[in-house]
Amino acid sequence: MTQLSSDEWFDILAFHAEAGVDVALADAPIDRFAESAAEASAPRQPAGAGLRPDTPPAAQAARQAASGAASFHGAPAPASAAHSAAPHAPDEAALAAREAVGAAMDLDALRAIMEQFEGCALKRTASRLVFADGNPQARVMFVGEAPGREEDQQGLPFVGRAGRLLDLMLASIGLDRTSAYIANIVPWRPPGNRTPTPQETAICLPFIRRQIELANPDIVVCLGKPSAQALMNSTQSISRLRGHFVDYETGTRTIRAIATFHPAYLLRAPIGKRQAWQDMLAVEAALKQGAE
Ligand code: URA
Repeated sequence: MTQLSSDEWFDILAFHAEAGVDVALADAPIDRFAESAAEASAPRQPAGAGLRPDTPPAAQAARQAASGAASFHGAPAPASAAHSAAPHAPDEAALAAREAVGAAMDLDALRAIMEQFEGCALKRTASRLVFADGNPQARVMFVGEAPGREEDQQGLPFVGRAGRLLDLMLASIGLDRTSAYIANIVPWRPPGNRTPTPQETAICLPFIRRQIELANPDIVVCLGKPSAQALMNSTQSISRLRGHFVDYETGTRTIRAIATFHPAYLLRAPIGKRQAWQDMLAVEAALKQGAE
């Protein structure tokens, strides 16, 4: 290879940083194209094959569930969902995720299933799953978009700058991470903090929906447009979605959901803080009302 000057190395690094490649995932480069080519040409294994012999039974069950081998009601999964180690289409992966979450009877089981799920390509570039923070018993659950760099490094949602503003928003109505539960629509960091694609959101939606169902809060607060659109099943703007409660069906009961501006947006556009404050007051009032 041609010798590069330090200026040229600097330019290459700057190019990567601008393209969103801002974290080294390993010490040595990995050729993912070669990996995918090998995967594509390898004979398909029966569902459940490929588990290491020392894989604990719970992890095996989780992995089989995540791979679509077990369906919601225990019936055999369709053949298309069974090979979710590398699903070929987003709708296959979303189907595998929907089937997998049915096996999760509590949040720990859901987390194990998500750890084993291979259907979302973001998992390959993220350093870890960012499942949740706060109190899963809380009456209110905040749902953001996707982890950023700090969240990816620490494995906890909202621990960067936006997270510090979220903490202030919580404090403004007497909440903190012991009285609120916090998660994201997409639990793996998109490279360069880009917005998750509609396909990535669709694949991960069954996970957050099940997480809400299992945490069973009285109120869900959607932080920002991607969260509000995904959970409220709407294409409307955040300005239209925010500020009022709508019913949200968890799967076992009807709770209330409200959207507000994402703290990262508020850092860029502080003018929105006034409306966000009104939204937080609405959350406070709803919590008080429900407690009476
Ligand atoms: N933004 C989000 O939507 N979620 C996080 O966890 C951090 C930043």
